[in-house]
Amino acid sequence: MFRVTHLPSSIRPSTCFLSLINSRLMSVVSSSFVKTFGYLIVNLGFSSKVSKYTTHELSMKKALSSDAVIPSEEFFNQVGIQYEEAFGHNAGLQRIVQHFLKLLPGDAQVLDCGCGTGKPVAEMIAQSGRVVNDIDLSQTMVELSSKQVPTGSFTRANMLHYTPADHPTGVIAMLSLFALTRQEISLMAHKWFQWLQPNGYLLIGVIGAEDCETAPEMYDSDGQCATGVPFTFMNHKVSVTLFTKAGWNALLKQAGFEIIHTETDIYTPPPATVCDDEPHYFVIARKSSSI
Ligand SMILES: C[S@@+](CC[C@H](N)C(=O)[O-])C[C@H]1O[C@@H](n2cnc3c(N)ncnc32)[C@H](O)[C@@H]1O
Repeated sequence: MFRVTHLPSSIRPSTCFLSLINSRLMSVVSSSFVKTFGYLIVNLGFSSKVSKYTTHELSMKKALSSDAVIPSEEFFNQVGIQYEEAFGHNAGLQRIVQHFLKLLPGDAQVLDCGCGTGKPVAEMIAQSGRVVNDIDLSQTMVELSSKQVPTGSFTRANMLHYTPADHPTGVIAMLSLFALTRQEISLMAHKWFQWLQPNGYLLIGVIGAEDCETAPEMYDSDGQCATGVPFTFMNHKVSVTLFTKAGWNALLKQAGFEIIHTETDIYTPPPATVCDDEPHYFVIARKSSSI
């Protein structure tokens, strides 16, 4: 449901051409275009949006339950390895993890909160020689990551109730906070700060609320966080909590962090996985030793 127009490069020239013609003509052109190329051109008022879904996939999306679910432990147990098929080849995510790893000493201990299948993040950390101590709420994910990254240590735990045995040098929360409430996310920001060693680094991968389709009533009164934001994820309609980018920056500073790097990168999952495009917001922050 993100209004992000992103097409495979193979059909991008056609899109440029279509964007030049008026919207009425476009809806006529679109049906033959869909038949020919298997992509649907959606006419949304003044701006022409192009969906990456085939007509078949769009009908699957329509068939999804109208009640959006909050992605739970059970949800991720069912998703399992399919998550990696959809999100395991995210070049932007891999770049930010490389960037993060360059900041850490060679013997760093890294704690990833919500590690998923272990690929690519835990695998990259382990291959860099750092110590991997990861947690995930889903037993299936813990089993998968233990198998896929045998040198890492993986524990089934809810990050909200977890306390690491040692103080890690790096903490990661990569796309694992969407099901938490605003209060829980705020709590985690303070926990990460307490957990980290002085001069340790935090990497988060989130989605800024302003980059998604939201309604004003979803936002808290300070405008920093939206709740109940719908999007399509792994062939399900889910409902998530999203801070704005400014909200994230304020929260991390309030928890004591110094923000040292931010970037946004749009990831387009393979169409067959029936997921919306995800405009990821990556933040690297430091627990300054002077605090
Ligand atoms: C969207 S996946 C991301 C997986 C991985 N971080 C990645 O980027 O490949 C979210 C993961 O976070 C886990 N998760 C969600 N809430 C959690 C919580 N409260 N504590 C620990 N793990 C959680 C889920 O089980 C799931 O494996």
